[in-house]
Amino acid sequence: MRTKPVIGDANVIRFAELIEEHLGLQYGSSSIIELETILAARMRALQCRSFDAYLKGLESVVTMYDEMRELAAKLTIGETYFFRSPDQLHVFSEKALPRLTRTNPARQIRILSAGCSTGEEPYTLAMTLRELGKSAPAEVSILGLDINPEAIAKAQRGRYSAWAMRATPPECIEKYFRREHSQFVLDQSVQTMVRFEERSIAREDYQFWQSLHFDIIFCRNVTMYLSARVLGEVIARFARVLAPDGFLFLSHAEPLRGISQAFHVEHAQDSYYYVLRKAAESPALPRSAALPFRFRNDAPRALAPSMSATSPISASYQTSSLIASNRAGVKPAPVEPAPPRLEAAAPRPSLSLGAALMKAEQYDEALATLEALAPADRLDPDVLLLMAIIQV
Ligand SMILES: C[S@@+](CC[C@H](N)C(=O)[O-])C[C@H]1O[C@@H](n2cnc3c(N)ncnc32)[C@H](O)[C@@H]1O
Repeated sequence: MRTKPVIGDANVIRFAELIEEHLGLQYGSSSIIELETILAARMRALQCRSFDAYLKGLESVVTMYDEMRELAAKLTIGETYFFRSPDQLHVFSEKALPRLTRTNPARQIRILSAGCSTGEEPYTLAMTLRELGKSAPAEVSILGLDINPEAIAKAQRGRYSAWAMRATPPECIEKYFRREHSQFVLDQSVQTMVRFEERSIAREDYQFWQSLHFDIIFCRNVTMYLSARVLGEVIARFARVLAPDGFLFLSHAEPLRGISQAFHVEHAQDSYYYVLRKAAESPALPRSAALPFRFRNDAPRALAPSMSATSPISASYQTSSLIASNRAGVKPAPVEPAPPRLEAAAPRPSLSLGAALMKAEQYDEALATLEALAPADRLDPDVLLLMAIIQV
């Protein structure tokens, strides 16, 4: 019988840090056993007798890259399906596309599905565009990115189980899929509308992440797995690569509150979405600057999408879900020293002062500061959101 290498909690924490650094993913203390199991399996596969030997083996860029691909396939949660969150799809077709092409109907619309998993999201966007017929933009490109190489390979195959189709309108199944035994095969004409690439949104690459490169970014059900540090960097990156009037769609469980001032929040069709502020607008904080606080109650970030144990999702995804649903902080968030208490005769009311007071847990003072803003400033969506968070 093979014995499990003895690793120890301190090394599992170092492993979790390595994962955060390279993949951006954050794991909680209750995931320690699962992380240790994965690490032990990797050490066995690489014939490493100790964690130090495992780390030594990752010293070269090539071995680190290969190992991170292996880990990404094991650690990520790929739960997705076609036509997920149809309210946001309505905003995409009825608000975002018309607004982006209003002054220039010939404008090319470049769409990024960041964290596209096995392709259902970008293919849904492609089918939505096809359904628009003549009112679709003349030229569109769709790129799907994911760090999981197995997910990208599956996306490129374009073959799906009934589970992935569970929210697909029957007329779209009829029009865009063909049945092969228990599988649904996506029509080539839709498949060719989407390009896929294995890439992490958490890693900087100035050649790829170029300014003004995209008009619409979908990054739904992804940011909840990232650490706070990486999340701030990712959102700043999105702000950099979006066109000035670009749209960002996150899931409803992943609000941008307090993470970036680069976006306006808008609400339509029962859904929230973000629009990049124009440079000429004067946000209370500089573009992309993170507010100096995190959520008062950030529990939703620790939650993985729930999946039934009997769902026909592949076994590796079920394992990953188990891991993520147990996350709660292998590496406890660094405890920042409490800022000095801000006294009543504080500087002029502003959004950043309200945020600082909230960070200092002076909720009444934070609310009073926001309420003291000029009436026009009080209507700023970020001010409204901050007030709502304080009052929760
Ligand atoms: C739950 S799925 C979401 C799929 C789709 N966006 C949706 O909403 O249905 C999350 C995906 O994000 C991917 N992911 C996680 N971290 C990532 C990163 N740093 N870069 C790119 N993809 C990432 C995972 O591999 C996984 O496929």
